[in-house]
Amino acid sequence: MCTGNEFLQPLEAFLADDKLTESDLIEILHFTQNHFGYIPDEAQLLIAKRLKIPTSRVYGVVTFYSYFTQVPKGDNQISICLGTACYIKGAQNVLNEFEKQLGISSGETTADRHFSINPTRCLGDCSKAPVVMVNDDIYSRVEPGDVSKILAKYRSDSQEAR
Ligand code: FES
Repeated sequence: MCTGNEFLQPLEAFLADDKLTESDLIEILHFTQNHFGYIPDEAQLLIAKRLKIPTSRVYGVVTFYSYFTQVPKGDNQISICLGTACYIKGAQNVLNEFEKQLGISSGETTADRHFSINPTRCLGDCSKAPVVMVNDDIYSRVEPGDVSKILAKYRSDSQEAR
């Protein structure tokens, strides 16, 4: 199966295995997510066609599991805890400040793909609420006034890497 779309070639190669069936859908979606960093619409169409299942079935699985995403993820993942303890201590204001400074909403990625914002459930550090996690780094007792400093760290990290 060749779509003539160079972008999709790695997925086409993966789907070339004759033994693939609908029961392999999750595995195929994992491959797609890992390869592209998200699951593009064109990939969903291709997978549905190859498995001979409705596109709505593929879409249903993609939207059911939070691991899968339909928008590209940023290089830096900002997870803002909106669990009860963090919420009570003002996590929503912190989230609003990240959204304002990055010009995106929760669940979105900046146009340069540098940052994504993901609201999340309890990160297991409630005594230090509100808690924010950027990649593997944890920030405790975060206030809206801390947001620009946190973002600056990851902006400068990317410039040092260049
Ligand atoms: S509620 Fe935020 S760390 Fe537990």
